[in-house]
Amino acid sequence: MKKKIVLTFIITVFSMAGEYPQGKLGEVVKLGEDIVNHTDTNTLSKPYVRSQLQCSNCHRKKGADSRAGTAKTIGTFVGTSTSFPAYSKRHKDIISLQNRIDGCFLRCMNGTKSVVNTKVGIAVESYITWLSTGMPVKMSSKAPRTPLKIEMWSKSRKKFIALFKKTTHQNYLSGKALYVKECASCHGDDGQGKGTFPPLWGSTSYTADGSMAKLPNAATWIEDNMPLNNTHLTDQQTADITLYINAQPRPEYRGFKVEDNFKKLGLDLEKIKN
Ligand code: HEC
Ligand code: HEC
Repeated sequence: MKKKIVLTFIITVFSMAGEYPQGKLGEVVKLGEDIVNHTDTNTLSKPYVRSQLQCSNCHRKKGADSRAGTAKTIGTFVGTSTSFPAYSKRHKDIISLQNRIDGCFLRCMNGTKSVVNTKVGIAVESYITWLSTGMPVKMSSKAPRTPLKIEMWSKSRKKFIALFKKTTHQNYLSGKALYVKECASCHGDDGQGKGTFPPLWGSTSYTADGSMAKLPNAATWIEDNMPLNNTHLTDQQTADITLYINAQPRPEYRGFKVEDNFKKLGLDLEKIKN
């Protein structure tokens, strides 16, 4: 909790993105903002995605009339650009902010091809960088995240990995009941979303290799963000709901499947579900 207060403080003090930049740069920042909010309908970004998600579904707004990625939760974009270029274990190399953005296009949004150095990639990079206006640069040698986020993610992931390793079919049943009670009113009994409420599984959702498909990452995000404007779930409730959602079918990513995320934690998806 203390760490969360520090994150909130840092975002509040350093986030100075107010006026759009002048000229062409301002236009491109605005374009990036529109893509982040309307990823599957903006005419430039639409051909790059197959999901019906918006970046802003996970990198949320603080309130209805605020900007995508400014919610003071673990998915915030405020501060993000200060840690790039950064070391990435997945790439075993130094990656740029556009490479990181591309990872979410491909794996979260079920992307069709790379956005790096396209109009889309540069526009989203411009928008996300603008959100860190005034914040000190601190390139990251450990992971493509700010040092504070590295600490928060790893602590919370550790906590959830311990819970997931003990998972049985009972946790799946409890997750299903909790899903119906806490989440289905917005995301639908079938997880397909409704209107502006985004899908949680199925062909229009994030892929099996997206960050949100990884059980410990998803639990970390969900505990900090959902149910909408009413976060109150315990660690165990969060783990059970996450287990239920991420056991449902979703697009593969280059052969990586839903059950592979369970195998990683020593779990057998079939046994958990049946
Ligand atoms: C289904 C949820 C989801 C969607 C949709 C999504 N992301 Fe992400 N994104 C995540 C999660 C979860 C993380 C954190 C993962 C981690 O750090 O391990 C993340 C991390 C990032 C980061 C690194 C942020 C930081 O400060 O470390 C960037 C940049 C990013 N996403 C950009 C995007 C863009 C651009 C889009 C839209 C094209 C997008 N994301 C769509 C879930 C999502
Ligand atoms: C009152 C409506 C509401 C409820 C209840 C709700 N959500 Fe959401 N959820 C949203 C909205 C709206 C978004 C998009 C983010 C935003 O607009 O701030 C979202 C986004 C998400 C996302 C990321 C985007 C995606 O589709 O993958 C996940 C995961 C999620 N919710 C899980 C849950 C879980 C789990 C519960 C129950 C514990 C829950 N939600 C309850 C409205 C709701």
